Amino acid sequence: MTCETRDQKNLSQISSRLLRWYGKNARVLPWRIGPAGRKAGAAPDPYRVWLSEIMLQQTTVATVKERYAEFLIRWPDVRALAKAPLDDVLGQWAGLGYYARARNLHKCAVVVAKAYGGNFPDAEEELKTLPGIGDYTAAAIAAIAFDRKAIVVDGNIERVVSRLFAIETPLPAAKKEIKFCAEKFWPKKRSGDFAQSLMDLGAATCKPKNPNCSLCPISFSCRAFSLGRPEGFPVRAAKKPKPSRSGVVFALTNKSGELLLERRPEKGLLGGMMGLPGSPWAEGAGVEPKKFAPAIKAKWRKVGAVTHTFTHFHLELDVCVGRAPKGFRRNPDQQWVAPEASRLPTVMKKAVELALTKKGNEP
Ligand code: ADE
Repeated sequence: MTCETRDQKNLSQISSRLLRWYGKNARVLPWRIGPAGRKAGAAPDPYRVWLSEIMLQQTTVATVKERYAEFLIRWPDVRALAKAPLDDVLGQWAGLGYYARARNLHKCAVVVAKAYGGNFPDAEEELKTLPGIGDYTAAAIAAIAFDRKAIVVDGNIERVVSRLFAIETPLPAAKKEIKFCAEKFWPKKRSGDFAQSLMDLGAATCKPKNPNCSLCPISFSCRAFSLGRPEGFPVRAAKKPKPSRSGVVFALTNKSGELLLERRPEKGLLGGMMGLPGSPWAEGAGVEPKKFAPAIKAKWRKVGAVTHTFTHFHLELDVCVGRAPKGFRRNPDQQWVAPEASRLPTVMKKAVELALTKKGNEP
């Protein structure tokens, strides 16, 4: 692997210029100790760094900003989180998606509280042995929480580095090359600030479309810029179209206006989360609602369908509504819940909203 920027001589200036740029342009983020705070001697709390990195996997900065504070108020440190019932953590996670993250978050808190006395380890390799912490997250925690030299490569950094070196290998195969090249200019000191400076540069300046190269502190060294085609990087392998799946859910209401929810199986998508009872999600279009109606003697009426896109497929769910018959008794894995109090995964929230707001379906 070779790493060539526009001007090899200037490689060492990349980190000093970026850190200076970060000093003036760092985003203010609730989980971050900004460059001024670091300079004044404030130290990041590894628990907060870890929590933010797990939340930020697959979830936007804007969404995490809204949800992070609430989580911290409830569980201000790793011991508190370790003591929490898993159900409460899953409930708090509702709407953030990728629920395996919440399970692993809880598992990891238990390990750190019990085996590490409540202190996160600072070495990348050891962090990787903890539940839910992969290569990226281990590097991010080691760098941001402990200032260890660890090469952090998220989506923004991937874009900055592949432009800087004009890496022609398509993603995802280029990942190794990107990390290898990033190491060439990664500083030994202020590794955490440096990682975050690259993230911020990617978010604000080195954007996927219409990058602001005139404002970029490292355009002097950027090969993609000198080639006149920054938007041409990163190169991506052609994406396969996402397949579609379909299913049906049943919204049962009782006289008090409560809704019947059911815990989903532990394994599989939205594992362990509450949702409406329904069919499996099958490849292809349309399922026959009758075939999957729960063993409840209600008059089911289809009121429409909702769609949702997961990482690997599009889903269309038909939504049926019904009233609980006299003498109906729920199963142990089912609960009556006031709809406004339910914390549901987004696709289920969409289905409940449709079921309850369509004219004539109000409880
Ligand atoms: N995305 C992932 N981690 C981040 C961080 N620490 N700051 C900003 N954006 C991020």
